[in-house]
Amino acid sequence: MTVTHPAQNVSAPPVVDLDPSVLAADPYPVYRALRRTAPVVWAPAINKILFTTFDACTYVENHPEIFSSHVEGAAMVKALGGRPLIRKDDPDHAAERQAMNRPLRPRNIKESWNALFERNAETYLERLEEIGSGADLNTDFAMPLAGQNLIDMLGMHGVDPLDIARWSLDFIAGSGNVTDNPDIWLRCETSRAECDAALDEAIPRLRAHPDASITSAMLAGGLSEDAVRSNVKLTISGGINEPQHMITNIVYELSRNPAILDAARRDLSLWDTIFNEAVRKYTPIGMITRETVSEGEFEGITIPSGAQVGALLASGNRDESRFPEPDDFSIQRSTTASLAFGRGVHQCAGKWAAQSSIGRIAIPRLYERLPDLHQDTDRPEIWNGWVFRGMTSLTVAW
Ligand code: HEM
Repeated sequence: MTVTHPAQNVSAPPVVDLDPSVLAADPYPVYRALRRTAPVVWAPAINKILFTTFDACTYVENHPEIFSSHVEGAAMVKALGGRPLIRKDDPDHAAERQAMNRPLRPRNIKESWNALFERNAETYLERLEEIGSGADLNTDFAMPLAGQNLIDMLGMHGVDPLDIARWSLDFIAGSGNVTDNPDIWLRCETSRAECDAALDEAIPRLRAHPDASITSAMLAGGLSEDAVRSNVKLTISGGINEPQHMITNIVYELSRNPAILDAARRDLSLWDTIFNEAVRKYTPIGMITRETVSEGEFEGITIPSGAQVGALLASGNRDESRFPEPDDFSIQRSTTASLAFGRGVHQCAGKWAAQSSIGRIAIPRLYERLPDLHQDTDRPEIWNGWVFRGMTSLTVAW
């Protein structure tokens, strides 16, 4: 990575020469170099001003009046076929978010979802056991389980978990399709059509018979049908891939840290700590995007109005000034400041659902059923991506 500093009396961000393929292979050394360069840098290769440190990411999240979510021409809006709440600012965003929040509050998760999360975990554990040692934890367990959990939460009964997981990947690919790759738009179009066909059945059913689902809550909250459809597609793109990645991330990490696994077997309260530390260390959504609607200034660096911005949450979560020895997996550290679920008004709506379904249910049940579960290191895992990062394959044995 080369860095060009502006003339001494100019407070513009230094220019960095980023290679997205290097980031996708292993982003953490690049993030470290970026943090050492400056808290704010300009990366022409991806046409973004990047916020690299913990404090810089927090500044973006805490100042929606400068960093708008209403990004014009956002690929996500094209990918989902409409503008979801994450691409809106308050008060429009708040009205939709309020309707979505109720089914995702901790009490509702306990009352409405935990029993389903347990049942789904049992179903896919049985399948994993049938496949046997040598199974791929990502495709044989994490993906269908995360898919089925979200089908239930959205009230989209009858959808195949592997179909919804494919829609999720296609919507994510479309949301990042800044190079306008026509194949990706085609995939998005197909997945959108399949998702809309499923909603053609679900929406009238949920209007007639409201239930505890997120879709039902949005309909009851008076959102237009277009808004409901866009937000369902947003939830599909964010609510499967990341919980799925957290299952493989945690098993990967515990395979290298048997002492922590033993401690969690003795003290079940540690499962929350393990989930929170894993979501910090591996921050599945590495970057969130915004657009400046007025000039900003951070630590002496001026940010122009009308700029595309990326807050590197995955870099902020490895900022050594906030998390000492950030590349270590430590159950001693506090993760309350973690940026993994974002901050401010757009903070992840599904964070309690993710913690419960994965951290408190799927992972503990995995180790109860398969106490000797570990990564089969003869077949190396495959990591992919940096904006959305996780394993596409993790072979396990027991
Ligand atoms: C470990 C799993 C997950 C991670 C790491 C994660 C992370 C995030 C992040 C970083 C944001 C953006 C915050 C921002 O822009 O400031 C977000 C937003 C969102 N997430 Fe999640 N998420 C996860 C699981 C889920 C699940 C399971 C659901 C649904 C059930 C969900 C639904 C949403 C929604 C609807 C938004 C948009 C919120 C808004 O704009 O107000 N997420 N998530």
